[in-house]
Amino acid sequence: MITAIFPAAGQGKRMGMKVNKIFLSLGGKTVLYHTLYTFSKCEMIDELVVVASPEEVTVVRELLKTMDGLKPWQVVAGGLERQYSIENALEVVSPGTKIILVHDAARPIISTKIIEKVIEETRHHGATITAVRAKDTIKVVDEKGIVIDTPQRNGLWAVQTPQGFQADVLKDAYQKAKEDDFLGTDDASLVERMGRKVKVVEGDYTNIKITTPEDLIMAESFIKRRSN
Ligand code: CTP
Ligand code: MG
Repeated sequence: MITAIFPAAGQGKRMGMKVNKIFLSLGGKTVLYHTLYTFSKCEMIDELVVVASPEEVTVVRELLKTMDGLKPWQVVAGGLERQYSIENALEVVSPGTKIILVHDAARPIISTKIIEKVIEETRHHGATITAVRAKDTIKVVDEKGIVIDTPQRNGLWAVQTPQGFQADVLKDAYQKAKEDDFLGTDDASLVERMGRKVKVVEGDYTNIKITTPEDLIMAESFIKRRSN
């Protein structure tokens, strides 16, 4: 059994709009709609767990009720950090789940092809991330705005979601992070600190996270191209 978890409990502060970005319209449907539909089209996915902020649990539930064709779903309340939101989701995942995918609700341009690739690689490796090769040179900069290092671009990847894990691997990593008070920047970082190898699946540059207003413009054009 495979479960997909969708953190959607953020506030979308960097979008600078009043509403959580997952409710914004993209080609006439919400960002959340596009994300959940693509996963629901995947044969291999059995259930969806959407994490909403406590104030938005009800409205997200009502929204999902209006969507036909979704895989079995539940909505749970999230926490103040993305990691705490996932922690809450892990508590309601079906006991029969062997593989868990975590995918930002705010990445609506995800394709079934990448989801399937992540599932396949997770079956082999136990822990997988989607990532793309860094296009820009990346510098390490100190608090004063001074460059301290320029790592070789060759080995640098920009990390996306979905990230896929054997259920026990992810649950153990979250349990340990909680015990250690460790806050990671993505799900895989929690698994990495357990000494586990994480396999990279080469993703797609269109799989952007709606973060700042220009991302919505790009996403609009990707959605339009897809439906043509
Ligand atoms: N998220 C979450 N719980 C949190 C914070 C974030 O479930 N406490 C979710 C967001 O809803 C989003 C995903 O994690 O789908 C990626 O996070 P990010 O892009 O940072 O979204 P926000 O936190 O909403 O945006 P911002 O940081 O600009 O406020
Ligand atoms: Mg955030």
